[in-house]
Amino acid sequence: MSLRGGDTPEQAADALRRGELILLPTETVYGLGADAGQAEAVAAIFEAKGRPRFNPLISHVADAMAAEAIGVFDSQARALAEAFWPGPLTLVTPVRDRDRVCDLARAGLDSVAIRVPGHAGARAVLSAFGGPVVAPSANRSGRPSPTTFADAVEETGFAAAAAVDGGPCAVGLESTVVSVLERRVSLLRPGAVTRTEIEAVVGSLTDGGEGHRSPGRLAVHYAPDAPVRIDVIEPRKGEVLLGFGAGVGDPRWSLSPSGDLREAAANLFRLFREADRTHPAGIAVSPIPTQGLGEAINDRLRRAAGFVG
Ligand code: TXA
Ligand code: MG
Repeated sequence: MSLRGGDTPEQAADALRRGELILLPTETVYGLGADAGQAEAVAAIFEAKGRPRFNPLISHVADAMAAEAIGVFDSQARALAEAFWPGPLTLVTPVRDRDRVCDLARAGLDSVAIRVPGHAGARAVLSAFGGPVVAPSANRSGRPSPTTFADAVEETGFAAAAAVDGGPCAVGLESTVVSVLERRVSLLRPGAVTRTEIEAVVGSLTDGGEGHRSPGRLAVHYAPDAPVRIDVIEPRKGEVLLGFGAGVGDPRWSLSPSGDLREAAANLFRLFREADRTHPAGIAVSPIPTQGLGEAINDRLRRAAGFVG
């Protein structure tokens, strides 16, 4: 792997064909990628991340046509794909092709999670490769997802044969995961595409139920090493305060001085990592509004703080 400047999309595609892992840039977070059809390569992802095998992976493809080759799309899934792809939305549909997305990639489920990323680097790799690429976030399991090339290399670069440098991730939070199964649409993981944006396309979301769960939503997740407290107004001695809005805390540690949710999402995981490097007594986070993109930010914060329903 060439770390300075990274590898080309063609080199990454060759590594995928050989059954090796790659670091894949996307607009949400960096992924650790493998050919979805090669079970041994997929197993290497679980091993590198220390990820439980009951947690299925997202298959990334170049366009909606490639998506329909591996999943079964009804009219609602098509409408969501048309509205938000390429982009930070993952659709869980019934699986169509069990060979191109192997059992291990789906954790044995009859469904498959599919995303068409918008990032030019990701799209170049997917076009050069020509098949589905499974890629979980490139962090070791339980840690914050990497949103810069350097952070991705630090987390799981040891396992990758090729690494594509796509710069800092513009979104900074993982994709929204929505299941479209048995004519019901459910939100499994809040993300960059908001609940309101999805409901504008398919009407109100159902609460899910059997088959509409995200097996990977562990309670403690996305966590830095330092203990995290959320909704904090007054930080304790030795805590770093990640502020939100004008005049809150040290501007160097602000998620967004202007109180902008997009900026806060893009900065969150990076600031977790930078705060950890100062070995603070803890990381305190200012209250973040819960509407729009705030739902996804607060979801990640609650998990980082270790309490989640
Ligand atoms: O933004 C993203 O989605 C990033 C980038 C790299 O694309 N990837 C990512 O992957 O966050 P990962 O593996 O960290 O999260 C995938 C989520 C997990 O919560 C998993 O349980 C869920 O998607 N998932 C995958 N397949 C599923 C399925 N068949 N049914 C329900 N949930 C599924
Ligand atoms: Mg992850």
